Amino acid sequence: MALCRVNASGSLPKGPPGLPLLGNLLLFRSRAHPVDEILTNWAKEYGNIYTLKIGPKLVYILNGYDLINEVFNNPDVDGRNAAKTFKAALGEGKGPASSEGQAWSCQRHFTLKHFSSSTAKLEEAVATEVTTVLSALMSQPQTPKDVHNDVFKPAMYNIMCKVALAKYYTYKDEEFETLADIWDTVNTNSGPATLYYSVKLPFGKSDEIFRKISSLKILLQKIVDERRQCLNDKSATPSCFVDSYLLLQQNELGGKEGVSKHFTDDNLLWSIFELFFGGTNIPRTLMSSVVVYLINNPHVQEKIQQELDTELGDKPPSWADRQRLPYTQAAIAEIMRHANVTFLAVPRVARKPVTIGGYHIPAGSTLMSNLHSVMMDPTAFPNPEEFHPERFLDTDGNFRKPRELVPFGMGE
Ligand code: HEM
Repeated sequence: MALCRVNASGSLPKGPPGLPLLGNLLLFRSRAHPVDEILTNWAKEYGNIYTLKIGPKLVYILNGYDLINEVFNNPDVDGRNAAKTFKAALGEGKGPASSEGQAWSCQRHFTLKHFSSSTAKLEEAVATEVTTVLSALMSQPQTPKDVHNDVFKPAMYNIMCKVALAKYYTYKDEEFETLADIWDTVNTNSGPATLYYSVKLPFGKSDEIFRKISSLKILLQKIVDERRQCLNDKSATPSCFVDSYLLLQQNELGGKEGVSKHFTDDNLLWSIFELFFGGTNIPRTLMSSVVVYLINNPHVQEKIQQELDTELGDKPPSWADRQRLPYTQAAIAEIMRHANVTFLAVPRVARKPVTIGGYHIPAGSTLMSNLHSVMMDPTAFPNPEEFHPERFLDTDGNFRKPRELVPFGMGE
């Protein structure tokens, strides 16, 4: 853990004052102002790199496209912090979000390759679930609905069950209810994931999370064993993330020295865990944001509807259709920019001493990227507070994606 240290010349990036012991921790409980805005405003006061104290731990906040891009592409900044509770419950393995160095790069590339080569399966899983979501939304139209919890949540869990585990459930299925219950606890009680990843807080209902993740591990192991059995029987074609992983193990595709050792069963359980952790709650929050933005901006909703009607008629949209839907793409991009649901991304750790913005940052330091500072930068997005999908259209009406649109984070 990097405690408050100074560099050789005695200076350290400055940062806002905090309380004794707690430091700036209460910032993350602030209801008065959005945290992302506060962080970006502090950059104006303290510079593009500044420090925060989260409890006893010093973390560095990076702001602005150029600085984050430089630091997050530095090969010495490829460390990660795995949450203490998660580690205690899941064991020593590591997944794509918590491994470091070569292990990280192998797992990350495998995960990205798997999902980019199985877009058809992903699309099929989403399309099936969209039907359920639509019928839930259209039933009893006069009755208010909690779309975030009752509609999008089970839908996201089910999509992930399908693409990661080849399991497709009805919402009343006992196993599905168990999985959903565990994920509810993890998502609701672990606090902002970034805090867990970066400072390994020793409190915050960690006992309950520990128990739930321990039971999740047993359930996931059972599902992995089932998939392994299916693949051994050759009665099933590989159809999910776990299958691809097991096949990689079997074929020793990664037989090259130093690669296959990263694809252990322990790491597989971590990978599934991290896919659920990153791939359910964040998209659900984004979906709920979409609903809120469209309700508050009926003119945008009308334009999307018009484009869908003109281009697709009654045909349900598919991934391939997106080229024909520039306005819809622009509206989604603008919601992702404006809502910015993952404004601190996943923190990185400097595995060697690095120099950033003239400061010498010691090895072991945690660095967080403030994506709000990039996606609300007025030089890239004039009047950034305004919700304006047209900013992503060129003069011919084509969708254009500026480099500062970074809702999925930055760096290799
Ligand atoms: C709206 C949807 C999503 C948003 C806005 C989002 C955002 C992010 C961000 C900002 C990061 C941090 C990247 C970094 O700084 O290294 C991240 C990492 C990650 N996300 Fe997502 N994500 C989304 C959907 C998903 C889905 C659907 C999955 C799973 C299928 C997923 C799995 C992951 C994983 C495993 C990581 C860690 C990867 C790494 O360390 O390189 N995310 N995501």
